[in-house]
Amino acid sequence: MAEYDLVVRGGEVATGFGTTRCDIGIREGRIAALAERLTDAAAVVEAGGLLVLPGGIDSHCHIEEPARGGYVSARGDAPPPVTVNEESFVSASTSAFAGGTTSVVCFVPQWKGEGILPRLADYEQRAARGMLDYSFHQIITDPTDAVLEREVPEIVARGIRSLKVFLTYEPLHLSDEDYLRVLVTARRNGCLVTVHCENYAAIKWRTEALLRAGLTGPKYHAWSRPTVVEREATHRAIALAELVDQPIQVFHVSCAEAAEEIARAQHRGLKVWGETCPQYLMLTGADMDRSTPEQGAFAGAAFMCSPSPRTPAEQARIWEMIRRGTLDIVSSDHCGFSMGGERGKAANGRDASFDAIPNGIPGLAARLPILFSEGVSKGRLSLDEFVRLTATNPARLMGLAPRKGVIAVGADADLALWDPAKRVRLTNALMQHAIDYTPYEGLEVTGWPVTVLRRGAVVMRDGVVQAEPGTGRFLPRGPYAMVRPRGVLADGFDAAPPPA
Ligand code: URP
Ligand code: ZN
Ligand code: ZN
Repeated sequence: MAEYDLVVRGGEVATGFGTTRCDIGIREGRIAALAERLTDAAAVVEAGGLLVLPGGIDSHCHIEEPARGGYVSARGDAPPPVTVNEESFVSASTSAFAGGTTSVVCFVPQWKGEGILPRLADYEQRAARGMLDYSFHQIITDPTDAVLEREVPEIVARGIRSLKVFLTYEPLHLSDEDYLRVLVTARRNGCLVTVHCENYAAIKWRTEALLRAGLTGPKYHAWSRPTVVEREATHRAIALAELVDQPIQVFHVSCAEAAEEIARAQHRGLKVWGETCPQYLMLTGADMDRSTPEQGAFAGAAFMCSPSPRTPAEQARIWEMIRRGTLDIVSSDHCGFSMGGERGKAANGRDASFDAIPNGIPGLAARLPILFSEGVSKGRLSLDEFVRLTATNPARLMGLAPRKGVIAVGADADLALWDPAKRVRLTNALMQHAIDYTPYEGLEVTGWPVTVLRRGAVVMRDGVVQAEPGTGRFLPRGPYAMVRPRGVLADGFDAAPPPA
């Protein structure tokens, strides 16, 4: 019997601390050896000088997520009926592999009036049908005593180590009091808390005023939630977390003001981490003002997400905050709604006001190529920074390290063979998702995944995804590990307290 099931031969292996030309020996899905020359292999994948990157980890994506209400309105209307994201775990897996991502952390919903376990059981079944490796954040919208005292310890024991809260959206948002209760519970159970930071009341107030004035088109979505509502909620989220001494990750930071709140907290030594997404580097509010002959002003809905895309000046500041290490994870916040179709952006009609159009954009496949191209190829980021932002840091913060996020002996053999010189014009077809558009249509990128391995199996080659549905694995997570400012890993394993 051969020593290795597979050897990846002759790649420039990205370790996160420079690259080294070597072979990777894989046994039973894990990396068994890194050496100049490995010969005793049952099969060989020739890397031929391509970069070999750790498979991307997307620690913020919404996949096949059932929602009752969510992500739409700040008006407080009666909750709409239950809908499920168009992106299934199978289509999301295909899209993720096409773009070089091999693991995701997505969201288990909680509906007000219910506990968390019923929705978890349903979501586990959905996720098990995909091909990606996956873990969950548990959304908390109704923090009853039963949820916090009985159910949270149970999910933590099952390896779900992050609680997600929203400070906006009807009907998801939490009051400060409820947010505090979640923070205390997280601290007691050794969980990370991830937070959507926008001020619910301010958005509601602005939205009502805009609608009264007849300003209803997609572009007014940005007007309803200017940077100050994000800055305020970010400040509050951090201040209350400081009060409880509970680590948090601020999701999808879109503007410098919010990032500066995070930087100040980090400077004071607080365990606060910040994530941003390609949309805040590539899109602006002006995109929501686009109009086409077919769609009219509704075309702007394609770019509508929360927080809103901002301005070129904010984009530049977000790059700066990435380089400074304030923002240390780049996720997609993939939350796709087609422009057409029953579950899409036009579900309430193309004349619907902006507050009745589902928020969110697709970005699972586009995340790595865009960040590589705009970051590494254009000289804004080193390759090491790219690897840390897209794989190593999310793995550590999500408690998936050292199994995921690095190319090292013992880690899962999740690898993306990457051609740094390949130029590709993005199209929706290349995204291989279930959504009928990409907000990045026509964008030219330099750098592209050629072959992807998940746990040692080739799942994508030259854009063709081949993986059996049901082969993705649930990833039980340990406690979060620190990611330090400037992207430098902590020396020791500074971990959350064990579950009570
Ligand atoms: O617009 C967005 N971001 N939709 C997805 C849900 C969320 O807020 O993360
Ligand atoms: Zn959010
Ligand atoms: Zn999200």
